[in-house]
Amino acid sequence: MPVAVEKACQEGAGQVMSGAAETLARCCKPSTRLVILSGSGMSAESGIPTFRDAQTGLWSRFRPEDLATPEAFARDPERVWRWYEHRRDGVRAARPHAGHRALVDLETRVARLTIVTQNVDGLHQRSGSQRVLELHGNMLRSICSVSRKPISETWLSTAEDVPPRSPHASEGLARPDVVWFGESLPEHAFHEAVGEVNNCDVCIAVGTSALVQPAASLPMIAREAGALLAEINPVPTPLSDHVDVFLREPAGRALTQLLSIMQAMPG
Ligand code: OAD
Repeated sequence: MPVAVEKACQEGAGQVMSGAAETLARCCKPSTRLVILSGSGMSAESGIPTFRDAQTGLWSRFRPEDLATPEAFARDPERVWRWYEHRRDGVRAARPHAGHRALVDLETRVARLTIVTQNVDGLHQRSGSQRVLELHGNMLRSICSVSRKPISETWLSTAEDVPPRSPHASEGLARPDVVWFGESLPEHAFHEAVGEVNNCDVCIAVGTSALVQPAASLPMIAREAGALLAEINPVPTPLSDHVDVFLREPAGRALTQLLSIMQAMPG
């Protein structure tokens, strides 16, 4: 653990605490700038399969990497649109879980909490988190495949074609407003995310395999800038060897535990 962070974590200690969750809780103080980097494991307990587990039923013979690409959409737009319809149905039926709600509460206990998410399901916002940067877009929004202008739900609900034609360009089709393999991240969101990790005291990676760049580089940027780096995941990842604190648990349990320790700490 970086010396400055270790010192910060020890300040105000005195109470007997043990274990990784306590260490992390001690570092999340009213003056702390906290960044959460979330991945699809964060949504798993809401019933949304993780990115690499997303293929069920009819879709089990396709790899997500073969559907979430501009080439797949150019080749077979109907198949890709229907795959997203299937996933959107799951997202609409899902509800934020206790871990999402713990993050909303954590916002009130630290100086600044930013969630940088790779998830495209909008669950952090639905649970009430205020500051969420979407690195990979949001599958509940649609844009024109040519102009990238937003397409409204009203337009989509009256469309008969699959995918619906775009109202913005004669050759355009509606497509999900997400980042596909081979596409660039939204510049503004990524730029802001880099700024946040460069200026945070604590960064917690939750439910991500830490395999997909450039999102996977963010926790290491935080660490190099002197932040305490923590990870929440039931399974070790390539990041695990580099973290100061590893909570080897599902997101819901780990985040509620973290919150309840913080609630019990003297103010
Ligand atoms: P992955 O599916 O690669 O990884 C999900 C991670 O969540 C794994 O490490 C699991 O061990 C972990 N996990 C599963 N259940 C969990 C739980 N209950 N609590 C905590 N962790 C749990 O998903 P991502 O890392 O999000 O991008 O994948 C990153 C990006 O890969 C996705 O956003 C997607 C894909 O490329 C795009 O579509 C652009």
